[in-house]
Amino acid sequence: MPFSEFKVAEKYQYLNGFNSYHESEALEGALPVGQNSPQKPPYGLYAEKLSGTAFTAPRAENQQSWLYRILPASAHKPFEPRESATYNTNPESKPHEKIYQIPNQLRWDPFDMDETVDWVHSLHLVAGAGDPTMKSGLGILIFAAGKDMDAREAFYSADGDFLIVPQHGVLDIQTELGRLLVRPNEICVIPRGIRYRVTLPEGPVRGYILELYQGHFQLPDLGPIGSNCLANVRDFQAPTAHFEEDTSNKYTLLSKFAGHLFAAEQNHTPFDVVAWHGNYYPYKYDLGRFNTIGSISYDHPDPSIFTVLTAQSDHPGTAVADFVIFPPRWLVAEATFRPPWYHRNTMSEFMGLIGGQYDAKTGGGFQPAGASLHNVMSAHGPDATTHEKASEADLKPVKVGEGSMAFMFESCYMVGVTEWGLKTCRKVQDDYNAESWEGLKPKFQRPEGK
Ligand SMILES: [Fe+2]
Repeated sequence: MPFSEFKVAEKYQYLNGFNSYHESEALEGALPVGQNSPQKPPYGLYAEKLSGTAFTAPRAENQQSWLYRILPASAHKPFEPRESATYNTNPESKPHEKIYQIPNQLRWDPFDMDETVDWVHSLHLVAGAGDPTMKSGLGILIFAAGKDMDAREAFYSADGDFLIVPQHGVLDIQTELGRLLVRPNEICVIPRGIRYRVTLPEGPVRGYILELYQGHFQLPDLGPIGSNCLANVRDFQAPTAHFEEDTSNKYTLLSKFAGHLFAAEQNHTPFDVVAWHGNYYPYKYDLGRFNTIGSISYDHPDPSIFTVLTAQSDHPGTAVADFVIFPPRWLVAEATFRPPWYHRNTMSEFMGLIGGQYDAKTGGGFQPAGASLHNVMSAHGPDATTHEKASEADLKPVKVGEGSMAFMFESCYMVGVTEWGLKTCRKVQDDYNAESWEGLKPKFQRPEGK
């Protein structure tokens, strides 16, 4: 089936296409015709431009949207810092915390659910590299929440684009540009600056986030693969305009700014965009639609063939962040050790598991809602059990990963781990290396007489 079967039915409408120029109006006639900023926009709306790239970014990279709203986003009281005890999005927000750069292979047991917090206060920076103030690098966060955001609250990150990977529960995300329902096996991207509110229609949620401090996600080039396969352009879904009208109640706007949390009051709803047009918008994608390709002759190809989205560094082909998935697929390679090879990588590899069992780790230690990090040049590969099985396997065609979806955030940067990730969460497995690789037996047999 080239799409996921979801337990919770879709309830919103979307515009299809990746990096497409879309327009949407919740009231017919709300979009000005032929110009962006008329002297009097239709229906007394304010015109507001939202820039996702520099004005002068090359046309192929330029991202912006025009919003037509009841009141501009600027109409709020000053931001005040929120007490750092209520959030975990910056390793420096608490004096004793910092980033640890360590070469060990790391693996985490499933992260705990936390039903006491909402989306904003569920965010835990687990690892990262770079600095949002310099727009370089990325953050990797875990979320686990059990409460809706307050009905009169909205959140945005000035630090980067959120790529959200739900593992458990359903996210109902009301954004300025419209609403998205995001379920496990779907991902969504909320670009820098876009304001949103998260509610949990099916109860507690848990998952992973990659926050991209620099650039935006793109689809990977396909080279000799041609013009289709992997994630296809038409399967990305952007919301349609939806607005509320309320200029008499108090709302709180929360901003993640350089990792810290700020709050500002305003006396109107942030969700008052009646119409918009542009190519800077949130979107979602069903991982079940990924057109997976692989070897039909021999050898295990590089995992880059499973790249859903990529954010390139200044050096083409080298990614600040790749989002890579390992969907159910057929393995047919002949005369081949079929699992991933043993590996040391100049890139760092953070992996998570949405559900099921990952075929390269069958020992049971890599579980849904858990994670692993193989940092720059940290050696890794199949565990001893998997190696033994794969070395002896009968190489007939076999389907792997049924009911499973593992993923990887791969980065050219050395990824440091926060105090929360290494200690506070208490999920790091002390015996990861011992369990995975110390049991590997030498099989070398020196040829006689040599
Ligand atoms: Fe690897």
